Amino acid sequence: MDLRQAVYDGYQSFAPLSRRLIAEAREIFPGGDTRMSAHYAPFPLSIAHAKGCRMTDVDGHELIDFMNNFTSLIHGHANDAVVAAVSAQIANGSAYAAPSRGQIALGALIRDRVPSIEQLRFTSSGSEATLMTLRCARAATGKQKIMKMEGGYHGSYELAEVSLIPRADLCGPIEAPLPVAIDASIPDSVLRDVVICPYNQPEIARDLIRRHAHELAAVIVEPVLGSMGMIPATRDFLVALRDATSAHGVVLVFDEVITLRLADGGAQAAHGIVPDLTAMGKIIGGGLPIGAFGGRAELMRVFHPDEVQPVMHASTFSGNVLSMAAGEAAMRQLDPQVFERLNGLGERFRQGANEAFAGAGIRGQATGTGSLSNLHFTDRPLDSARASLAGMVAAGNVGQLLHLEMLQRGVMSAGRLMYCISTPMTAADVDSAVDALADALRALKPGIEKERPALLG
Ligand SMILES: Cc1ncc(COP(=O)(O)O)c(C=O)c1O
Repeated sequence: MDLRQAVYDGYQSFAPLSRRLIAEAREIFPGGDTRMSAHYAPFPLSIAHAKGCRMTDVDGHELIDFMNNFTSLIHGHANDAVVAAVSAQIANGSAYAAPSRGQIALGALIRDRVPSIEQLRFTSSGSEATLMTLRCARAATGKQKIMKMEGGYHGSYELAEVSLIPRADLCGPIEAPLPVAIDASIPDSVLRDVVICPYNQPEIARDLIRRHAHELAAVIVEPVLGSMGMIPATRDFLVALRDATSAHGVVLVFDEVITLRLADGGAQAAHGIVPDLTAMGKIIGGGLPIGAFGGRAELMRVFHPDEVQPVMHASTFSGNVLSMAAGEAAMRQLDPQVFERLNGLGERFRQGANEAFAGAGIRGQATGTGSLSNLHFTDRPLDSARASLAGMVAAGNVGQLLHLEMLQRGVMSAGRLMYCISTPMTAADVDSAVDALADALRALKPGIEKERPALLG
């Protein structure tokens, strides 16, 4: 029996009720799935309830949650203050299509913490937030093209996903990467409007920005490449983007939808580099749907209702009072000490994970920074999407199988092996995830020896 079949067999008998539910879901949703990032083969665990850093699946297994709804639940599940705030608010309504005190309270809190924000607007998602930064930049500069990073993810729409996966056969030379469509739904017109920049290549970035300055409205960048494996940007790279965009009249956008959880004020505060616009989401909603974007008042002026032709931005659930209440309750529990503790636990996880790979004699590593980590089955240095992807291709399905083995040992991560820390976690929780990793690697090793010997260290 091959390794995949052996792991699938074990997983299927571990989760019979989840398996039964996915059969029902397949009647309703294509492949049983309504959110691609939450799907994994052979079927995902269905969750019954969750509290703090622990979730319980429908078969009754308890799991430590290192996924945290893709980093958004910085206080884990059902945080007491968030539950109280949402319960109090919902009795008074959930969304008014009118201004409210809650919007001002959360808006002011974000503005006071995030260095680039002079003015902001709420959205219903992080995708909408990044999209609106780009429309803002286009309207403010009168230019059309957008530079995005190879491996950068900015949400679920066409431009935001171009070159997310820079396939080696399509991505072109590193000095001038070609735009790569994520799937058959991406129109050529979108590919023509994008300039792709390789991540963590300051000199190439400067050159590309200079050459395209006449047509570039914005450069958008994640301070940590999230979807492609938690690869932190170097300071030199972010400085190069800041310098070159300032020199050439291009708007610099930081997508801090994930990285706002790295420090009080986000990655921009940690690096001391202030973009023109910032997109946010996830943690600012306290677990409810949200997004926000903002920056220099002069740029945000394009949305001013008194403008002759303001940039159109309407969104049914934008600024809804429930997300405002949850977000304020969550954000008020965060201060520099809390971020320091979270980041320390993240460092502890990465160190432990690296030791687990070394102890098992399997090539692998944990990348990331602060509370954000990702496991990879390669010991090559990972500083770009190309490097991360090459590691994934070489490892085949081993990462996916490790994920299933970790679930059976009570540890939930993203299928792509992203792990993040929440405030209810303790050092003991982190250590038990590391122990589970060491055990899972031991279990997989005989199969890896047979099928992927190149992964042995
Ligand atoms: C860096 C980044 N930007 C934007 C988004 C989109 O946010 P949302 O899923 O809330 O639309 C995500 C979501 O994972 C993200 O990771």
